[in-house]
Amino acid sequence: MIAREHQIYDVVGIGFGPSNLSLAISLEEHRANVLTNPITSAFFEKQPRFGWHPNMLLPDATMQISFLKDLVTFRNPVSRYSFVSFLHSQGRLARFVNRQDFFPTRAEFHQYLEWAESSLSNVVTYSSAVTGIRLPPEALHGTPEYVEVDVRTATGETRTVNARNVVVSTGLVPRMPDGIKRDARVWHSSEFLARFAEVDPARLRRVAVVGAGQSAAEITKFFHDRLPEAQVTAIMPSYGYSVADDTPFANQIFDAAAVDEYYFGADGARDAFWRYHKNTNYGVADSDIIRDLFEIQYAEEVGGAKRLHYRNLTKVRAVEQAGDERIVHLVSQLEGEPQQLDVDAIVFATGYDSLDPSSLLGDLDRFCLRDESGRHRVERDYRLVTTPDLPVGIYLQGGTEHTHGLSSSLLSNIAVRSGEIADSIIQRRAERELVPAGALQAADS
Ligand code: FDA
Ligand code: NAP
Repeated sequence: MIAREHQIYDVVGIGFGPSNLSLAISLEEHRANVLTNPITSAFFEKQPRFGWHPNMLLPDATMQISFLKDLVTFRNPVSRYSFVSFLHSQGRLARFVNRQDFFPTRAEFHQYLEWAESSLSNVVTYSSAVTGIRLPPEALHGTPEYVEVDVRTATGETRTVNARNVVVSTGLVPRMPDGIKRDARVWHSSEFLARFAEVDPARLRRVAVVGAGQSAAEITKFFHDRLPEAQVTAIMPSYGYSVADDTPFANQIFDAAAVDEYYFGADGARDAFWRYHKNTNYGVADSDIIRDLFEIQYAEEVGGAKRLHYRNLTKVRAVEQAGDERIVHLVSQLEGEPQQLDVDAIVFATGYDSLDPSSLLGDLDRFCLRDESGRHRVERDYRLVTTPDLPVGIYLQGGTEHTHGLSSSLLSNIAVRSGEIADSIIQRRAERELVPAGALQAADS
């Protein structure tokens, strides 16, 4: 059954992770300042409740950015939705400051996000997966004023809502090596805690983790801590874990100002961002966990009972099922011969692909312009560049690494970015309201 609504929202947000939560706050703070004709918005989230990478909420895992890079502070330092305001509301502000540490645990940051979300529950609907965006039937007779957004509800029905602007913020996409399929014993790190909870720990006597990034390091340590009888093997393509560069000069690439330098920079400048600073985020781990893992290995060597093993310069070629067991076929750059490892579970902490809106856009994609490499062109205000016959705004929060730089998939810039998106939507609406009806197409072309 399709439930069609008549209201046209100024903003429909797809996904309600930190990015669109930050946008919802930005819109709310704007609404508080206008008396007439406030911006209307509706957000749809496929999870049943708010959750920020819930399957990687490992005990002790800490944030990788300062608590000041919260949902709002860099845009509006006096917002009531700041992390400091959250701490104050919990009676923990003084004790947090006494820790003298910029980095809360991921568990505490998750509490903060839930706390902020609880004041915005009127604009978000959970258990609602957006399945596509399309033109309304009226578009056949002229320039469409809005698009239709199809939402699959918890009961399996389709609800169609109308939007003058859509903000796509569906997050990173888990990446498995080619040819390897997930199953009950072959997991991606993004599903880790849910999968781990499904298996009796006593049956996990031999486990393996693939990758050398932060997720791989955290899961390797978690396995070692939680499965005291198990053999734990870390399989990594590099010689060892490398440290994430979070030193002050390198950290500047995540500043809001760096977005302009990336966006308006020459190709050579953009290449340099990636060439010199990819190691701030990708395939790297925090120094604390690297040291912890090395200490564990060394202590086991001293004690003579080794159960944390490393297969470095090694990749997984295939995984074969044999009952509950999985046979992992390895290619090592050190050993000439192919190798085999039998495990009870294997986790691929092999990273993520960036957000790609193409499948949600469907037929609308033909209005979206692409660059010479086939990637979507994106304006500075994160709006997809479209042909003039689509005056509806489609904005991206994420998936703009090629245009806006390394912070696109991270929290670093979400307060500023969502403020820029809100400003763009509000300003474009004001401009549109000045254009007489019927003159829209002429004004846009
Ligand atoms: P996010 O992925 O959080 O949210 C997207 C939401 O969209 C999800 O809730 C999803 O369910 C929903 N969704 C997807 N498709 C949908 C559909 N069709 N319909 C409806 N809903 C849909 N960065 C950083 O700066 N500091 C850090 O400390 C960390 N830590 C960190 C830990 C882990 C384990 C990971 C994997 C990543 C990080 N990151 C990070 C990077 C991470 O991308 C970032 O923290 C945020 O999650 C980005 O927020 P978004 O809202 O953009 O995506
Ligand atoms: P990642 O940084 O992209 O690391 C993926 C790792 O998998 C890399 O070492 C990669 O090696 C390796 N890999 C990829 N394909 C492989 C293959 N076929 N065989 C063997 N190895 C392979 O991914 P991530 O660790 O999941 O991190 C993603 C993001 O989440 C980062 O921003 C990270 O900071 C964040 N994160 C944060 C926390 C936290 O806040 N505590 C926790 C976890 C993750 P190559 O480099 O050779 O491709």
